[in-house]
Amino acid sequence: MNKGIAVYPGSFDPPTNGHLDLIQRGSKIFEELVVAILRNSEKSPMFSVAERLEMLRALTADLKNVRIDTFNGLMVEYAKSIDAVCILRGIRAISDYEYELQMALMNRKLEPTLETVFMMPADKYSYVSSRLVREVAQAGGPVKGLVPDVVEQKLREKLDPAYKFHHANFVEAPEVDQNKKTSDKKRKKKA
Ligand code: PNS
Repeated sequence: MNKGIAVYPGSFDPPTNGHLDLIQRGSKIFEELVVAILRNSEKSPMFSVAERLEMLRALTADLKNVRIDTFNGLMVEYAKSIDAVCILRGIRAISDYEYELQMALMNRKLEPTLETVFMMPADKYSYVSSRLVREVAQAGGPVKGLVPDVVEQKLREKLDPAYKFHHANFVEAPEVDQNKKTSDKKRKKKA
């Protein structure tokens, strides 16, 4: 374990198993790892910052030296404000390298005392990205194994609001007397 705080910044829209893998690896190396969600992204996100915060908090509840936070503006300014000595980023494939190199060098120009450390997630997640997960889920494809179960559930609820209603109504509903059982159709109508 190294002394010091590292910041792992990103959009996490949504968090994937690749992100989680990197968080677990990072938490073993740094004294404290702060996963920082960018608040003022230009992109229109699928999940609100509050939703991403909640998902990441739930996913990292068992990692005692991991904290989830949000930030605005320059990442290096945020990193300095929490006394981070390091920026953690993941590199999945060579295609990530150019963008990551550019960002790391820009961050170094902005704040020479902050080092960027790259780690590789497990190779089984090397093709997993939040963008592709969103794309597959939006087209109705399966994302099991690519994102944690809690994220898969949130994706379902987000893309098919009827799922939440259906799930709450039929799975969590108390058992009813089979003779008095309301038909699915009637129950849907009532609600
Ligand atoms: O998960 P992402 O979307 O690849 O993360 C990109 C992120 C949030 C790390 C990057 O866009 C960022 O740090 N934005 C904050 C603004 C900033 O500091 N820009 C200069 C760094 S090149």
